[in-house]
This record gives sequence, C-alpha cells and structure tokens, in this order.
Amino acid sequence: MIQPSVRSELVSYPIRDIVQEAKRLEKQGTKMIYLNIGDPAPFGFRPPQHILDAAAEALKQNYSGYAPSEGDPELRSTIANYEKVAPEDVFVTSGLSEGIDFLFQALVDPGRNILLPVPTYPLYLTKQRLSYGTIEFYDCDSNFEPDVDNLRKSITKYTRALLVINPNNPTGSVYSRKTLEAIVDIAGEHNLPIISDDAYEKLVFDGEYTNLRTIHKDVPLVSGNSISKNYIYPGARVGYIAFHGEQWSVMKDALQRLCNQRLSVNWEMQRAYMAALKGPHDHIAKFNADLKKRRDILAKRVKEIPGLSLAAPKGAFYAFIKVDGPWKNDAEFVRGLLKEGVVTVPGSGFLPTDKGKYFRVVFLGSPEQINEAMDRVARYMKNSK
Ligand SMILES: Cc1ncc(COP(=O)(O)O)c(C=O)c1O
Repeated sequence: MIQPSVRSELVSYPIRDIVQEAKRLEKQGTKMIYLNIGDPAPFGFRPPQHILDAAAEALKQNYSGYAPSEGDPELRSTIANYEKVAPEDVFVTSGLSEGIDFLFQALVDPGRNILLPVPTYPLYLTKQRLSYGTIEFYDCDSNFEPDVDNLRKSITKYTRALLVINPNNPTGSVYSRKTLEAIVDIAGEHNLPIISDDAYEKLVFDGEYTNLRTIHKDVPLVSGNSISKNYIYPGARVGYIAFHGEQWSVMKDALQRLCNQRLSVNWEMQRAYMAALKGPHDHIAKFNADLKKRRDILAKRVKEIPGLSLAAPKGAFYAFIKVDGPWKNDAEFVRGLLKEGVVTVPGSGFLPTDKGKYFRVVFLGSPEQINEAMDRVARYMKNSK
C-alpha cells in the first residue's frame, strides 16, 4: 500500500466530507435534501446574463493563452478602482480560496499564526495546519459578533495577522461598525495587519454593513473577495486579494512569486469578473430579498422546534444552529439527521468541540425545501428524545 504524506493527513474539508456518507444512504433509497454546500447553482440561482455573455465573448476572442500571473491588467484596474488602491496592489487568484492559500504561504512560518475567529471557515484551519502554524482563535459572543476583549487577550508574539470574515460563514452574522472600529484599534495597538474576507460582501439583507476598507485608517489591510457568491458564479473560480496601506511592498513581491509559480488564472473568467464588477448589479437586491425570505422561514421553524436555537443570520446564506439534546456531539447529531435525508455540516468542522453542539444549514433552498427539511429535523429531534 502506498502511504500518503504526513502533510496530506492535515487536510480536511468537513463541508464536502459529509457527502460521501450521504451518497451511500442515497444509494440505499433515502431521498436527500443537500443543505451542506454554499453553492447557489443547484438551487436554481444563476449568474447575471451579462457576466455569462462576457465569458462567452472572451472565449471567442484571443484569451486562450496564459494570462499575466498577477491577473489581467484591465481586471486589476477595475478591482483597484473598486478597492481604492493601485492596480499593483491587486493579485487575481483562482477564487478567494487560492488567495487564502497564498496569504498563509506568504505570512505564516511554522509556529506562527493568523488569529482566526471561532467559529471559522474551515479552509483557514486547514491552511493554518498546513503552514505548521499554531491554531489560535478569538471568541465571538452569543450573537456571533467578535468579542473584542477576548480578541485583544488572544494576540501573542506569534500572531502575524487578524482575520475578520464579514458577513460570516458559518454564522451569517454581520458585524457592527463599532466592533470593526474596535478591531482596527486593537490591530493598530499591536501593529498587526487585518485580513478581511469579503466573500459575502454584497449579501447583506438585514441592517447596516461596514467594510473594513472604509475604516481601517493606517492599519495594513488585505481585502479578499471573489465572483463566487457576490455574483453567483462559484464555478468561474476567480477572486483576488488587494493590499491596502504602505507596509506591503515585500509581501507583494512574495505574492508575485506565488502567482508566477502557478502561471495564471482562467483568462476568460477574469473577463467575466470584470463585467461583474462593472455592472449592472440589479441581481443583488433580488438575491438578498430571496435570501431574507428564506432566512425568515428557517428562523421561524427553528424557533418552533424544542432543543434548537439560532442567532438569526443577517447576511450570506448560512445559519449556525445550536442543538441541545442527547447526542454525544454534533457529528453524531448530523449523522443521525442524514438518515432522515437532510445533509448539513457538524459545527465541530468550524469550531473546537468544547464550544457546544451546532450544525450549519445552507438556506438557499426553496421555501418548500426549507420547510420539508425542517419537518424532517423536527421529526428527528422528537424521535431522539
Ligand atoms: C468565508 C469564505 N471565504 C472564502 C471562500 C472561498 O470562496 P471561493 O474560493 O469560491 O472564492 C468561501 C467559500 O465558501 C467562504 O465561505
């Protein structure tokens, strides 16, 4: 038997890992509702037509070569315009996922870390492990807003940067301006950069939204973004990271090397992202209205089921639901729920297991699908007493 490397054993992705078990049950006849992956396409949401047209047009034109490693020059300028930085501050990546990978490679030596929120998007955990970084977290309160006192206490001499995911995956929380300003102040006190994961920036359907790029003052900031969620086109695989502030020149050299070694990002999809950023942006209001409607249905159903509770999401399309009940842990809860035909992700994929039992639900499904899934959850909870 050929053995995988030790490094490869550090990789896990709980959002997709659960699918294998679901497929096995499906073969045996269980009809599954998949609420595990944050992909709008299987639920009928499509990218705006002008974005698809731009990709098709690029395929007809001369975009079949390698693109410049750091990104199509016109796309970089368009992003720079949006971020209010210079084009040289922008690096186009294969989705924000690759941007996150590059940030860890460029910032984190063994024993160092990027301080992560808990709960956190699992890719950050995997990248921290692959960098042989220490896994360090700061807490959030019961509404999943960062606990700034805890954040301050959690910074050590090994911290290289602070991560903010706003709107958040897995909780759907949207942070107040006050909290973000406090984070900027703390970063400033410790001379630490902030990484702002803006993957869901446009998907806010309840209350105010502040982006760190507008309030970071002189604190160095990296903004990460992508076409995947904001423009409903995750299959395009284009994103970027943009550096704000004066302290990044050597890091930008590192980013250029990381971009060079993988040659380039799909060129036609970069043209599509350019069209996306230029607009029109009519899809955003419609998508947010659809999300709000679904959030309201889900929140109502959660309230009615004994043993479940939820800090209602205000953005993105995830709900991180707390469970009280006889299950040993949330993995056991989620495995049991699979047998009822609902695929979700155990909370322990996003947070250390001593933080309570949670599961993450994607609420992109139709109102009928959400109601059917919650009927199954209610039945499962009742039968498990
Ligand atoms: C918080 C967050 N950041 C980054 C990503 C990566 O997105 P992509 O690589 O599709 O741009 C995701 C994807 O789900 C996410 O939820």
